[in-house]
Amino acid sequence: MNSQHPDGSVFSNIVRAPEDPILGVTVAYNKDTSPIKLNLGVGAYRTEEGKPLVLNVVRRAEQLLVNDPSRVKEYLPIVGLAEFNKLSAKLIFGADSPAIQENRVATVQGLSGTGSLRIGAEFLARHYYQHTIYIPVPTWGNHPKIFTIAGLSVKTYRYYDPETRGLDFKGLLEDLGAAPTGAIVLLHACAHNPTGVDPTLEQWEQIRQLMRSKGLLPFFDSAYQGFASGSLDADAQSVRMFVADGGECLAAQSYAKNMGLYGERVGALSIVCKAADVASRVESQLKLVIRPMYSNPPIHGASIVATILKDSDMYNEWTLELKAMADRIISMRQLLFDTLRDRGTPGDWSHIIKQIGMFTFTGLNTEQVAFMTKEYHIYMTSDGRISMAGLSSRTVPHLADAIHAAVTRIP
Ligand SMILES: Cc1ncc(COP(=O)(O)O)c(C=O)c1O
Repeated sequence: MNSQHPDGSVFSNIVRAPEDPILGVTVAYNKDTSPIKLNLGVGAYRTEEGKPLVLNVVRRAEQLLVNDPSRVKEYLPIVGLAEFNKLSAKLIFGADSPAIQENRVATVQGLSGTGSLRIGAEFLARHYYQHTIYIPVPTWGNHPKIFTIAGLSVKTYRYYDPETRGLDFKGLLEDLGAAPTGAIVLLHACAHNPTGVDPTLEQWEQIRQLMRSKGLLPFFDSAYQGFASGSLDADAQSVRMFVADGGECLAAQSYAKNMGLYGERVGALSIVCKAADVASRVESQLKLVIRPMYSNPPIHGASIVATILKDSDMYNEWTLELKAMADRIISMRQLLFDTLRDRGTPGDWSHIIKQIGMFTFTGLNTEQVAFMTKEYHIYMTSDGRISMAGLSSRTVPHLADAIHAAVTRIP
């Protein structure tokens, strides 16, 4: 026995950490034995039958990879699969992007969206003169943690107006207008999580002008390209506007949702620079960020993506499957809205069909959410965010019943 560790364990004083607020919803859901339980917490696509979906084009790409005897399992370079990086930059910035043609973009493979954000954050903390990053209120819960742990100082800008359940555009412009020169600004490229509220193209243009006039550095988080509208190009418009003006920006991409590659952890970080030699030096420094973190990224997911993106037939098949996912989500919005209207549920629910992407920010409060979980076995984050991708025509009536009961019983 050691007197400093009376029960013999050097770890006995470790306190239990809280569950992650989003992933913790699934932990609670898994413990529930009710046959009617419904998990609308995590943002993962489900079919009409409530099952996870592996895209047909992904299965095809995997077959090709498996059947290719020349493929080996050697390490990838630190920056990942070169072909994947090129194709990823083309996907987000557009094939005709001058930044790509002029070799001004440094792209590295990352561990999905999260890992790509983290690489970008660490790079900025080491090499960029301004360490303040502005993130929207609200935002994806992991953002403040990723940026803080990388060494950036996190501040917020107004984004969502609970009154209108829409964009607080005035507040957004005021807050970014008051940000110090050079501050980094985290922007959701499309399908803002958790609100489903995006600026219009005209509003994006005003944001762009304001940010460029103040020298603010855009850091785009693109986790839903193609998933919001069903069009890969339409969902990349915001990013492309900022690249078209010749200025610098960062973009983190994820293939979790739009290719259904969640657990493969495949994504990319691109830094758009003003000159090719700068981009090349930036890339050399990105390697120094990545090497001590995980040495080099995994090969399988990036190979799937590259196989699909480089083949026009597979690329087309992907766009169709992607559109089908986006359309199913949009139809669930309409169905939920119609069902609440038919029930005569008090309140204006038009935000359900106005919001876009994977999530609806219902406006339900913490007590109403707790009630729906307890009485109806419906699981969601306590801010009232529900994943539309987790709904089906079979489960919408159950959800509508729960919402109706929650808002009529708990004001
Ligand atoms: C806004 C946003 N950014 C990034 C991510 C990162 O996801 P992943 O690391 O699985 O690509 C998500 C996933 O929910 C997200 O919603």
